[in-house]
Amino acid sequence: MSSKQDSTKKTLTVALTLCLVCSVLVSVAAVGLKPLQDANKALDRNKNVLAAAGLLKPEQSREEIQQLFEEFDLRLVNLSEGRFATEEELQQAGIDPNNYNDRTASRDPEISRSLRGNDPAGIQRQADFATVYLRQTDGGQTDLLVLPIHGAGLWGAMYGILVLEGDLRTVRGLSYYEHKETPGLGAKVENDDWRAQWPGQAAFNDDGSVALSVVKGRGDAPGEIDGLSGATLTTNGVDRMIRFWLGERGYGPFIAQLQAGKG
Ligand SMILES: Cc1cc2nc3c(=O)[nH]c(=O)nc-3n(C[C@H](O)[C@H](O)[C@H](O)COP(=O)(O)O)c2cc1C
Repeated sequence: MSSKQDSTKKTLTVALTLCLVCSVLVSVAAVGLKPLQDANKALDRNKNVLAAAGLLKPEQSREEIQQLFEEFDLRLVNLSEGRFATEEELQQAGIDPNNYNDRTASRDPEISRSLRGNDPAGIQRQADFATVYLRQTDGGQTDLLVLPIHGAGLWGAMYGILVLEGDLRTVRGLSYYEHKETPGLGAKVENDDWRAQWPGQAAFNDDGSVALSVVKGRGDAPGEIDGLSGATLTTNGVDRMIRFWLGERGYGPFIAQLQAGKG
């Protein structure tokens, strides 16, 4: 009888100790690997910026990617004012531009707004400031403008990068780096063939309205991109987020001011 009790006690002790040891190991691994995960995420984002800009070549080393990415300046844009954010307003909002995260910011009611009732891209909240990357020539002319975009796909949020040429009108490329769409259907946003339609397209019409649209069975209109076959819902999500981010409530006013030389 007593040996039975002993063995139950022992079993429980071993099980609990094992649980404790495992949870400590998992926690230590999670905390210890966080910097590596963050570095890999940053590398992935940088790679996608370069991919969208058509600058990523096969077999490029981590260092080469970093070197190319360093040609871009990270800047924050005040979306409602359509201009670069000033140091004062960032300071007032408690934002460190080098540590700014658009996703975290969009959840902070102090520096974001709700889009409830008028949310075509399905993003729910929009941060007041958005990160953009600029590459400039030695003469200070904008050469490439990198615009992060996001919006709802069929299965969840899709995060991508749209790059404009120095004329701020012509598309250099589009790349999605995070999404939950189905391989072979919505995930075809990653396919080179589909992405090849974007470079050279006009992002804006002469009157400044958004020219890009993603439609099933594209016509000849400038800016029309053929949708993804068998994935109309993802196609619609891409169409809506592109129009939202290039439009009045996205980067539209900022790009217009930059074109007019007042950005
Ligand atoms: C398991 C499963 C996964 C799907 N994944 C996607 C997807 O990622 N994107 C999408 O637009 N449609 C997806 N669909 C298909 C949609 O339900 C819908 O049929 C499709 O978007 C219609 O596109 P079509 O008019 O081009 O055929 C999926 C369907 C199933 C059954």
